[in-house]
Amino acid sequence: MITTFEQYKEEYKKSVENPEAFWDTIAKQFTWKQPWTKTLDWNFEGPDVKWFIHGKFNITENAIDRHLPAKANQTAFIWEPNAVDGTNRVITYQNLHDEVCKLANTLKSLNVKKGDRVCIYMPMIPEAVFAMLACARIGAVHSVVFAGFSSSALAGRIQDSDCKVVLTTDGAYRGVKDIPIKTVVDEALETCASVEKVVIYKHTNTPITINSERDVIWQDVVPQASSICEAELMDSEDILFILYTSGSTGKPKGVVHTCGGYMVYTCYTFQNVFQMNLNTTSKDLFWCTADVGWITGHSYIAYGPLLAGASSVIFEGVPTFPDAGRFWKVIDKYQVTHFYTAPTAIRALEAVGLDFVKPYKLDSLKVLGSVGEPINEEAWQWYHKNIGKEKCPIVDTWWQTETGGILISALAGVTPTKPSFATLPMPGVQPLLVDEKGNEISGNNVEGNLCIKFPWPSMIRTTYGDHDRCKKEYFSTYPGLYFTGDGCRRDENGFYRITGRVDDVMNISGHRIGTAEVESAINTHNDVVESAVVGYPHDIKGQGIYAYVIVPSTTKDHDILRKEIIAEVNKIIGPIAKPDKIQIVSGLPKTRSGKIMRRILRKVAEGDVSNLGDTSTLLDPGIVDEIVKGKL
Ligand code: WTA
Repeated sequence: MITTFEQYKEEYKKSVENPEAFWDTIAKQFTWKQPWTKTLDWNFEGPDVKWFIHGKFNITENAIDRHLPAKANQTAFIWEPNAVDGTNRVITYQNLHDEVCKLANTLKSLNVKKGDRVCIYMPMIPEAVFAMLACARIGAVHSVVFAGFSSSALAGRIQDSDCKVVLTTDGAYRGVKDIPIKTVVDEALETCASVEKVVIYKHTNTPITINSERDVIWQDVVPQASSICEAELMDSEDILFILYTSGSTGKPKGVVHTCGGYMVYTCYTFQNVFQMNLNTTSKDLFWCTADVGWITGHSYIAYGPLLAGASSVIFEGVPTFPDAGRFWKVIDKYQVTHFYTAPTAIRALEAVGLDFVKPYKLDSLKVLGSVGEPINEEAWQWYHKNIGKEKCPIVDTWWQTETGGILISALAGVTPTKPSFATLPMPGVQPLLVDEKGNEISGNNVEGNLCIKFPWPSMIRTTYGDHDRCKKEYFSTYPGLYFTGDGCRRDENGFYRITGRVDDVMNISGHRIGTAEVESAINTHNDVVESAVVGYPHDIKGQGIYAYVIVPSTTKDHDILRKEIIAEVNKIIGPIAKPDKIQIVSGLPKTRSGKIMRRILRKVAEGDVSNLGDTSTLLDPGIVDEIVKGKL
């Protein structure tokens, strides 16, 4: 582990001068059944990236079995239920081993084989992590879908990767809500011919409909299965999982991560960024508040902490239930030392005032983290002062679903921090700023589009079933470089500050949603002729969704229409994509070639109409005045 700023600089230098030797040393710390023959083979034209070539191992042996001699009775997870007076659960590394093996054997008995895809649609209960690891144990590919997505969004993801089995629950608790998860799955499966079996973990005891040919109750089969399951031998470049994420086109894409590089990189970054004491006698406790349905949950709830042998909290609920002090209550209850959350949560909890913080000591905390979106300076200061009591370094970790792990971040207490700056690249990561034409912008105190010029182990390998899409989305804008889609400033000291997306992807409460995806959901409403969606600054969510919608002049009451459009988006994507504002317009600003001038729409949504630029080249310049006048 890197423990001084000097050492960081040395390691960084080594990692750039000889990346292969650098990663070789780190990868050797894991348990491999067969060593790799070559560390790296790559080109960004294909793209074709391979790490630890021909290495054979299983990630679950590294995340679980490897720790058993010393840590069998150590906590892997403490689960805090949604209900404040509910019964919590402690899962030791030995329990984790047994549960994962039992489920792995169950999956085998349901005919799941290496390479088969398994969809996981579950709330935040330990079984969701068992499910991921059970797939990995037998070489099945997991595709976790966030349980807030609608049945149609779930169906699209299941179909795209032809999942054979779905693991789910009867229901889910989120705050005061009791969500009928199995009903959503049933609806989705009406259009998913590939699914042979559904395994349902009974969690809420909500009544469910059982399809006797297809449905299996978890509690009826898993407890009887053997707790010994030999781990499937996997190649470094075998697929570990698919995770769908939004891009600039309508359909979400399945980002593919492979076993070897992902293992090495998530563990390395977890250890170095958070700087936990991982000795057997340590009381350090990590808590990442993300959902396993997102990449943060994959890398820093499931794989990273387990690979490092850490103990962490899994929380089922929401930060505001039963009141806005829940996070702080849980931190005190379990003596959490390392807390990792999203700026949107910080802003929401800041907004309700300090009365919800005051009852709690928060004196166990040592390190705070932020992820998912740029953290504004005010939220950073509030977090630092009121939660970290000015003694906890804040690691602002920049990364993406496609990067697998953290790429730019401070190392807690080791490298300097600066409010709203992700600061410096991790060893092995070579960022570069380019202008619109792709020319490198060198030196400091500059701003440009953020690219990465050299592969790191946990980078995206392909988009499932469509390699061209991967090439087009990430490797074609600037040939020879991985393009992140983010804008970025490098300050006078070389510290990086991510300024937000420069493509048509929004970041709503730290969740990525493509404008095209929301537009196509809105357009399915019968009365909608056309729509254009942009993000706008939102105090709590970071960005809100602003939709401009064209409807025929005869259309019914606009308030009813707005409600219907929101219902449509809920149905097609899920509540996270619901527009905050819907402006009914008679046209959209388009160029003569029919391209929507989003820049203008963005400015209007932001409330900045002073400088809309030259609108004379528009097909119908008059429409801009109408839009400005009707701004919500
Ligand atoms: C944004 C989440 C600023 C960024 C791990 C990126 C951030 C997108 C930060 C990826 C951060 C994430 N500072 N922006 N610390 N972390 N982002 O795939 O725009 O859900 O491209 O991965 O979130 O979102 P994703």
